[in-house]
Amino acid sequence: MIKIKQLEQKFDIVIDEIASDKSISHRCAIFSLLSNKPSIIKNYLQAEDTLNSLQIAELLGAKIEKTDEYIKITPPKELKEPFDILDCGNSGTSIRIYSGLLAGIDGFFVLTGDKYLRNRPMKRVATPLTSIGAKIDGRENGNLAPLAIRGGKLEAFNYESKIASAQVKSAMILAGLNANGISTYKEPSLSRDHTERMLKGMGAEIETEENVIKIIPLKTPLNPLEITVPTDPSSAFFFAVAAAITKSRVVLKNLTLNPTRIEAFKILEKMGTKIEYLLKEDKYEPIGDIVVEGNDLKAVEVSENIAWLIDEIPALAMAMAVANGKSIVKNAKELRVKESDRIKAVVDNLNRCGIETEEFEDGFAVRGGNPKFAKIESFGDHRIAMSFAILGLICGMQIDETNSIQTSFPNFVELLEKITEVENAN
Ligand code: S3P
Repeated sequence: MIKIKQLEQKFDIVIDEIASDKSISHRCAIFSLLSNKPSIIKNYLQAEDTLNSLQIAELLGAKIEKTDEYIKITPPKELKEPFDILDCGNSGTSIRIYSGLLAGIDGFFVLTGDKYLRNRPMKRVATPLTSIGAKIDGRENGNLAPLAIRGGKLEAFNYESKIASAQVKSAMILAGLNANGISTYKEPSLSRDHTERMLKGMGAEIETEENVIKIIPLKTPLNPLEITVPTDPSSAFFFAVAAAITKSRVVLKNLTLNPTRIEAFKILEKMGTKIEYLLKEDKYEPIGDIVVEGNDLKAVEVSENIAWLIDEIPALAMAMAVANGKSIVKNAKELRVKESDRIKAVVDNLNRCGIETEEFEDGFAVRGGNPKFAKIESFGDHRIAMSFAILGLICGMQIDETNSIQTSFPNFVELLEKITEVENAN
């Protein structure tokens, strides 16, 4: 449990210790297994979710060496059947992408996770993988973890996904690399594209055109990764909202500026916040700083490019709660199957703060007002806990379960303490 004290004065700070990118870190652990040489990863995210992905790589035979500057992942000659279950903790990314990899590897694998992950839908990967010959089973007819996978030969495919999901797409790309011919994957709109960028960077034959991908099976192992993981824009966004709602200023350092990841900053800009994007380099991803300067906020309607801001919607809802007018989020049904039902979690908790809301099947409406102190239920969800902690800068806040913050952003509270007092009362 943490208690946030209302902000006493505006801030003007530079933050360069925000957690490294979770999506890219997971992929570093998993994709390094596709090479036959050691990968060197700087700034790997040291949080529960991504450490689990690393431990799974180890159970599959990789050697992991950590120094102060980097981690070195030396893949085994061939992935080995692990002697134990593979525990993905809270991470949907880990369980779904590993499913795609392991479906094409000879052996028996059991993937599982914590009580939240064990309640999240896995059919979205199990169905397309099974349709190309994978043997996958799980609770509730194969939809819920633990998932048991008997890896083996996979058929080439032409798959059209109904959801824009980078996790499903990544699982199918990895399956395609192990399949017996050329495959294509189509999604309704482009989801985050780290997998395509990184695998191409490693030498994979992947052709992309907007939301369609052609995957040519691997003939030889890929080149190893040599990468510095940028700052996670989804984590940095909490501090962007902090500046936006308190009319403060913050400089966020070394973020990925990948367009599929910074859409929420664009929405904040639409609401009246001044935002600058300073590109510094471009290797696997464009990387740079983002400067955020708060101003009066006006309501906004969000119904497009949802896949590009899905993780930031709870934090955006905090800006909506203090904006002038009624904001609306639509076409965001996927929020219901994240680490918690985020539509319910946002609406319930904003109501506790005295903010008027409406709940839709695929989103919500928020009428901006004067939020008041409340006791927040995080539903064990890191992004709900951090979002309401940020709203606490306006009115003070108590958040019940906050251990989940360790899954993605272990030094969040420490950074928040640069701005205001945080009482840690576990
Ligand atoms: C992720 C993809 C998104 C996102 C998740 C991370 C990834 O999920 O919500 O936090 O790293 O691929 P979906 O692909 O299921 O939309």
